[in-house]
Amino acid sequence: MKVDVLLGLQWGDEGKGKIVDVLTPQYDIIARFQGGPNAGHTLNFEGEKVVLHTIPSGIFRKNSINIIGNGVIIDPYIMIHEEIKTIQHLTDVKSKLYISEKAHLILPTHRWLDYVNESTLGQNKIGSTLKGIGPTYTDKVRRCGIRVGDLFLPGFKDKYTALRNRHLQQISDMGFDIDSIKLGNKSFSEYEQLWLAAAEELKQYQVCSTEYLINKALAEGKKVLAEGAQGSLLDVEFGSYPFVTSSCTITAGVCAGLGVAPNKIGKVYGLFKAYCTRVGEGPFPTELFDSTGEELRQKGGEFGSTTGRPRRCGWLDLPHLRYACMLDGVTELIMMKADVLNGFDELKVCTSYSYNNRITDEIPFDPQARLVPQYQTLKGWKAFSGNEIPSQMKDYIAFVEQYVGLKVKIVSVGPDRNENIVL
Ligand code: GDP
Ligand code: IMO
Ligand code: MG
Repeated sequence: MKVDVLLGLQWGDEGKGKIVDVLTPQYDIIARFQGGPNAGHTLNFEGEKVVLHTIPSGIFRKNSINIIGNGVIIDPYIMIHEEIKTIQHLTDVKSKLYISEKAHLILPTHRWLDYVNESTLGQNKIGSTLKGIGPTYTDKVRRCGIRVGDLFLPGFKDKYTALRNRHLQQISDMGFDIDSIKLGNKSFSEYEQLWLAAAEELKQYQVCSTEYLINKALAEGKKVLAEGAQGSLLDVEFGSYPFVTSSCTITAGVCAGLGVAPNKIGKVYGLFKAYCTRVGEGPFPTELFDSTGEELRQKGGEFGSTTGRPRRCGWLDLPHLRYACMLDGVTELIMMKADVLNGFDELKVCTSYSYNNRITDEIPFDPQARLVPQYQTLKGWKAFSGNEIPSQMKDYIAFVEQYVGLKVKIVSVGPDRNENIVL
């Protein structure tokens, strides 16, 4: 069997959590391959609304196995106390979850370093979620990170202390007094105590070499779905660098982040919102600063699932969408939040940009490049109910399909598990 992949084609928050939850009954294993608690994946079912950060979105379905792969980074405090403890009345996480021993740990000092780095950048900040993502992946490639498997080795405490002290020195060299910085209402020393206790608790979970688990499952004919976090336009290689996250968010990241070979990749479900949003800094050519942008934000409930920040909103950007489909090898498109566009008389979609006195549909290198979107105007549709898609929405979908060269297989028309139209 092959690993199917589900990921976001924009700047994150496309609705990945919802669709993974919808597709889970078709799979035996759901696996996260990158990112960490910067992700916020929302699921709505049976009147419950749940936001997951590190735990795969297959956790609520009967018989599903959920894997946190080696490419993910874990903050044990956030995972156990802000996620698992909030969902333990709904599912038995311990029996369903396997964690890679090779996944790196986000230390308390990584979070404080993230804050200090962002403060130092001032106006040029990335707009990080301040979960310690950049500093943790930095240490991973610098070959001094600490992994979940280290928790079981006798040298853990020394390793932890050495890395922590190195970070503390860095923070002080940058002119910051760590004791005066509170994150999430907690001082560093308060957080460190909670974190160390949570790290100890993490040892009670099923920690193993998940690459063997996944490859054995595939050999036995089991079905695996890899769940992306963030979005392809936040990818560290191909996103609007430096306004990106620090991991490989595209399909290629599945291989390194789970230990599956490229020839084991099957279907790739690419999710896009029927419009665009972005949270944090960085280029966003179709961003709307007017009442239409505000209308999208209010109707779409576009406020960050992890940080609560208002999301920037704008029209659908087709050159960026096609770029992401190319990088990801998307085989099926899924259009999300189509209901949010209900009631607009006209809808605009960007088909190219005017840039340096020429028209282009490719993304230029310079993140500061001023791209002026060139729009096609399409007819809007009224609110609708049931499974009958209005003809104007059919035209909108056909326009996207024609531009991107792929078919839309599912249209999501509401946050609940059951609000989907299969085409
Ligand atoms: P993710 O990070 O990709 O999992 O997406 P988020 O959970 O951060 O953001 C998506 C938001 O849109 C969540 O609040 C979802 O409940 C909501 N959502 C998902 N699909 C739909 C949809 O089709 N329509 C509407 N109105 N909301 C949706
Ligand atoms: P999900 O999985 C939207 C953005 C941040 C910031 C940049 C870098 O819910 O789609 P980081 O904390 O990773 O160093 O921040 O990336 N970002 C996200 N935006 N959805 C996410 O995840 C994101 N994770 C990170 O806002 O601009
Ligand atoms: Mg999200």
